[in-house]
Amino acid sequence: MCGSFQRPLWTSPAAGHVTSLTDLKTTTHRTPRIPPVKPELGSPVLQAHQLRKVYRTGEVDVVALADVSLDVAAGEFIVLLGASGSGKSTLLNILGGLDVPTSGTLQFRDHRLDGAGEAALTAYRREHVGFVFQFYNLIPSLTVRENVALVTDIAHDPMDVDEAVAMVGLAPRADHFPAQLSGGEQQRVAIARAVVKRPDLLLCDEPTGALDVHTGRLVLEVIERVNREIGTTTIVITHNAAIAGMADRVLQLGDGRLVREQRNTAKVSPAELAW
Ligand SMILES: Nc1ncnc2c1ncn2[C@@H]1O[C@H](COP(=O)(O)OP(=O)(O)OP(=O)(O)O)[C@@H](O)[C@H]1O
Ligand SMILES: [Mg+2]
Repeated sequence: MCGSFQRPLWTSPAAGHVTSLTDLKTTTHRTPRIPPVKPELGSPVLQAHQLRKVYRTGEVDVVALADVSLDVAAGEFIVLLGASGSGKSTLLNILGGLDVPTSGTLQFRDHRLDGAGEAALTAYRREHVGFVFQFYNLIPSLTVRENVALVTDIAHDPMDVDEAVAMVGLAPRADHFPAQLSGGEQQRVAIARAVVKRPDLLLCDEPTGALDVHTGRLVLEVIERVNREIGTTTIVITHNAAIAGMADRVLQLGDGRLVREQRNTAKVSPAELAW
């Protein structure tokens, strides 16, 4: 585990200690680096218990998540399905530390995330989570290489930038700007940017939502490769049920609840998916 992210940064049952922004600032980059410990494949990386999220807008309460319990094993590839408004993004955002549950518990390895505080969640996101969204959010004035390199300044053990760019198949385009790339290529840059810091979790919210079938497949191939070759635990939200064939496990949300869970005995490669 990285030096700036040892137990004292967290509200954890064992440590009983809440981090502060000051702790974080003083530890970042100054403590000696300790190599990250990769958990055994299959050990629980996320444990959620009765997660509930209620959005209060004026007089109206919207229950976005209702008592979702879920364990995610290290190295697992999960596809999350569900109708619009069923709570998929809410769940992913909570698992990734972008949002907090109204109640329930959430643990990343042995660290409690619920009630962890903004500074600890920022550290969690920065060091352990890579996000990919439907829209790529690349910086237009930076090249592919520069967009990917941007996050390596604050990462503890980043991959070589050119290695990450090559991994998504864009080595020949490394000096190009986003406007010179297709949508699928831009999404692959976003994936390289997400994985260059070697996150434990790759969380993708409709990564192929804006892409045609062929381009979507290429993007899924890259996500699948990251999961298989680096062992990054991966969760992909999609409206396309065909993508479910790629997963180890398929979860379906309905009205904020987990309504279906299925394990795939044989996984299908993106190239073989019947779209
Ligand atoms: N910030 C917010 N304030 C109020 N309600 C919200 C907020 N964010 C989400 N919701 C509500 O919570 C519910 C779940 O939303 P969420 O975005 O998680 O759905 P989703 O499954 O990702 O849908 P989609 O497939 O359309 O992206 C919806 O009813 C939504 O309107
Ligand atoms: Mg959504």
